[in-house]
Amino acid sequence: MQGNSYGGLEGFDMALPDGELVSFRPVRPEHRKIVAEGMSALSFESRLFRFFTPMVCLSAQQLDYFTEVDQSDHVAWIALSSDNAGQTGLGIARFIRLPHQPRVAEFAIVVIDSYQNRGLGLILLALLYKMAVSKAIDTLRASVSLENKVMRRWLARLGAVGQYDDDGSYTMDWAVAGKPPDLTLPSLQRLKAIIVKIDEAMSQNVVPDPL
Ligand SMILES: CC(C)(COP(=O)(O)OP(=O)(O)OC[C@H]1O[C@@H](n2cnc3c(N)ncnc32)[C@H](O)[C@@H]1OP(=O)(O)O)[C@@H](O)C(=O)NCCC(=O)NCCS
Repeated sequence: MQGNSYGGLEGFDMALPDGELVSFRPVRPEHRKIVAEGMSALSFESRLFRFFTPMVCLSAQQLDYFTEVDQSDHVAWIALSSDNAGQTGLGIARFIRLPHQPRVAEFAIVVIDSYQNRGLGLILLALLYKMAVSKAIDTLRASVSLENKVMRRWLARLGAVGQYDDDGSYTMDWAVAGKPPDLTLPSLQRLKAIIVKIDEAMSQNVVPDPL
């Protein structure tokens, strides 16, 4: 299969529930400019919820860190608009394996405000779930602001469990392997159905690299 392989991973295209086609790609250093520009499409609240500070732009070091990933201990995927030659970032999701707990990874996800609540976050989270399982990670852990009701309630509907840490921060642990998934949870059923679609799209799509 011809495809835009990076680190053995293929990109794929998938439609949102409203029919808009979105390209999903493993993050590469070439996405640096798109990631930097994506900050301007985030509201104050989204930046606060993602970074815990309303930072306006990413530093050069942060851009290095966010785009130079090995797709093994640091896995990251970006969603790109199919308009504008794939040069507009719509969302990004990543997890980073904890050095001292290699079966646990911290994850974060963000979708630009104009695309929120359209099903894009679910596809990105399904990708993280799928990638975590393939990288022998049992638990995905998110630091979630207590004010971030959308994220807290979403993860709870997926079976994640929240806890206060010693420093007063709030984290949610989501078991992705190691115990049978609770398929009575409708949100988890939807996520699993998306993973099946991702597997199909990855195996069928032969897409030109937009970069
Ligand atoms: C959290 C975030 C990534 C979700 O992305 P999204 O594209 O809006 O997600 P989806 O449209 O796929 O919806 C995901 C779930 O959240 C729910 N949801 C999304 N937006 C919502 C809203 N405004 N109000 C209530 N529920 C909402 C959906 O109903 C869905 O739940 P379900 O699958 O159980 O029915 C996005 O809101 C975001 O980027 N927020 C700012 C950054 C952030 O909070 N990141 C998390 C840091 S850990």
